[in-house]
Amino acid sequence: MRKMGKLKVSIDRKISKAWIMAHETQSSTQKPKTVNEKIMESLQHPEYLPKIKALLRDKYGLDVFQYRLPYFLRRISMISKKLNTTNLFEIYNHIQKSHEGYLDFLNTLTIHVTEFFRDKSLWDYLRDELFLKILGGATGQQPTRQNPYRIWSAGCSSGQEPYSLAIMFVEAYKKYTYKSGRPMTWSLNRIKALPFQIIASDINDRILLTAQEGIYSEKTLKNADPRIIREYFTKEEDGYHISPIIKEKVTFKQLDLFKGKFPVKFHLVTCRNVVIYFTKDQQRILFKRFWDSLLPKTNMVIGKSELLPIEINKYFKLIKLSEHVYERKDFDEKGK
Ligand SMILES: C[S@@+](CC[C@H](N)C(=O)[O-])C[C@H]1O[C@@H](n2cnc3c(N)ncnc32)[C@H](O)[C@@H]1O
Repeated sequence: MRKMGKLKVSIDRKISKAWIMAHETQSSTQKPKTVNEKIMESLQHPEYLPKIKALLRDKYGLDVFQYRLPYFLRRISMISKKLNTTNLFEIYNHIQKSHEGYLDFLNTLTIHVTEFFRDKSLWDYLRDELFLKILGGATGQQPTRQNPYRIWSAGCSSGQEPYSLAIMFVEAYKKYTYKSGRPMTWSLNRIKALPFQIIASDINDRILLTAQEGIYSEKTLKNADPRIIREYFTKEEDGYHISPIIKEKVTFKQLDLFKGKFPVKFHLVTCRNVVIYFTKDQQRILFKRFWDSLLPKTNMVIGKSELLPIEINKYFKLIKLSEHVYERKDFDEKGK
């Protein structure tokens, strides 16, 4: 009996060891699920995903195929939470039934996080180096009333970026007149006449209304010096109102960067924290189109966490590594 008992224990041990080994091999060969797979599993009627994409393209002209898939799926999962349904068919219906439904979708699809003077060191660089150099005529592009310095803020969200650009240009102008020994007396009319103009665009109409209103919370101004806030904003009960003169320098327009005609003849294009959600192919197309929109020897700024696709290096030269500021290379397209 004792012998039998010993034999049984040893067989059990062998079996359990074999089982553990087999199990371990199995689990190490089984790939862990990707985030995309997990999101897809949490949704009912996955066959409606391509239908949603086609609906957005065909009914509303929105080409979501140009957004990276993991990004798109994460936004779908957010929409499902907002609408309180995991059923893609219901989400499809919500988008399909009205333009409002589409705008709800677009609002969730596009991320609008922004603030005044986002990435502070960039703004110091623009005011103290780039704008000052341009105002001094160092690049042969000294702006005049007939030939103003033209800036395009592409993907401007609720307006903090284009208004920051306008304020920094005015600040650079003040420095320039001071440095050149002809300090100006500053008046609102003087600012109005300064030779620069800003076009600010975004795909999202709703966010552009907020931008046009120009009323902001204290939080979004956390990077602004108190003097800047005093000079360019008026504090009211509902928030900080941007000065009407600064507002006048910015023209907002709705524009989808995946399509349509781009505005042209710019000295500076800023497209920050926008392309990060686009596919690499779309990024290549977009940067080439920015190149087309810029005048020779002018500049482009992209976000701190964004990179130019390698193929685009032939179009732009990096001039300020830490701030992701580029200069448009000037060559005829057939050539080098
Ligand atoms: C995170 S915000 C960036 C705002 C600002 N540039 C900044 O860096 O603070 C991204 C903006 O890009 C816009 N956007 C996303 N896809 C777009 C597209 N296809 N065309 C134009 N704008 C788009 C969004 O609506 C959103 O307002």
